[in-house]
Amino acid sequence: MSNNKIEHIGVFTSGGDSQGMNAALYAITKAAETHNIQVSGIKKGYEGLIDNDLTKLKSRDLQKITHRGGTILKTARSERFMTLEGRKKALQTLKTNQIDALIAIGGDGTFKGLLAFSEICDIPFIGIPGTIDNDLAGTDYTLGFDSAVNTAIENIDKIRDTAESHNRVFIVEVMGRDSGYIGIHSGLVVGANGILIPESTQDLTYLLEKVKNYDSEDAFLIVVSEGDEIGTDLVASKIKEVNPDVDLRITRLGHVQRGGNPSAFDRMLGIRLGAASVEVLLRGSKNVMVGLYNNMICTTPFQGVVKQHHIDEELRDLLELFSS
Ligand code: F6P
Repeated sequence: MSNNKIEHIGVFTSGGDSQGMNAALYAITKAAETHNIQVSGIKKGYEGLIDNDLTKLKSRDLQKITHRGGTILKTARSERFMTLEGRKKALQTLKTNQIDALIAIGGDGTFKGLLAFSEICDIPFIGIPGTIDNDLAGTDYTLGFDSAVNTAIENIDKIRDTAESHNRVFIVEVMGRDSGYIGIHSGLVVGANGILIPESTQDLTYLLEKVKNYDSEDAFLIVVSEGDEIGTDLVASKIKEVNPDVDLRITRLGHVQRGGNPSAFDRMLGIRLGAASVEVLLRGSKNVMVGLYNNMICTTPFQGVVKQHHIDEELRDLLELFSS
């Protein structure tokens, strides 16, 4: 394997934190060390790149934090990096520290940032998908999605207990800015009576018909993705319109879905993608994301990652089946 003279890798986490990011940092550092490559962690994503805020990473320190949620490098959504001036400062940081490759862990915004940066910087960039939303093309799973779904279902199961005790209608809002993956996965496995997600124009009339006729001797659970175009509040008021007698409550699960220890799946995904990112870099790849497709490591050019994502057909069919 040729090393392409990579001696110093910079790595950062960016956008919303997601479970498994720490495991990926550990794997990147471990894999790099075996090739005698130094690794610098860039703090707070693109912000640290602009401000030259770096810290040396050693695998022996990171080994102990693969079980922790969040990101030890901290993260941010950087407005400054969206400007050319910000990106030029970031380029200067790379030159000052003699960094000859960059690995970034993040979601859609992170990959758009890498694409813009690649126009003024020609060192190789490798991306790792990290977002609870699971909305990137080029991978079956992103870091954090599995943990977030597990948190969602644990909490919805609890809500069902109280909902059943009071015969209440509950709307539970789960995260997903433009993506219904958490909504559809959690809604299906908790046996929700209705699931509303942004990617599908569900028949709200049909759902309202069900609530109208619901016998009020049981719980009625509706899972709504945060990004759904109708939205939690409007769904609630429409329900009240068709059935003023329902005892309705709303729970927004919010950022609890981003926290907590990563699931076994996310830890392993972090380990696999972290190690793979170094391997593909050393094989000479640049400006690609490493992902998982059919349980095998694959790479996708950044342009292919940021395109509109879709809910696959099988999931759509399941949604339809279980909504009836
Ligand atoms: O990281 C993805 C996500 O959790 C989305 O599901 C959510 O819409 C958004 O981030 C929330 O962002 P912030 O933490 O900046 O409020």
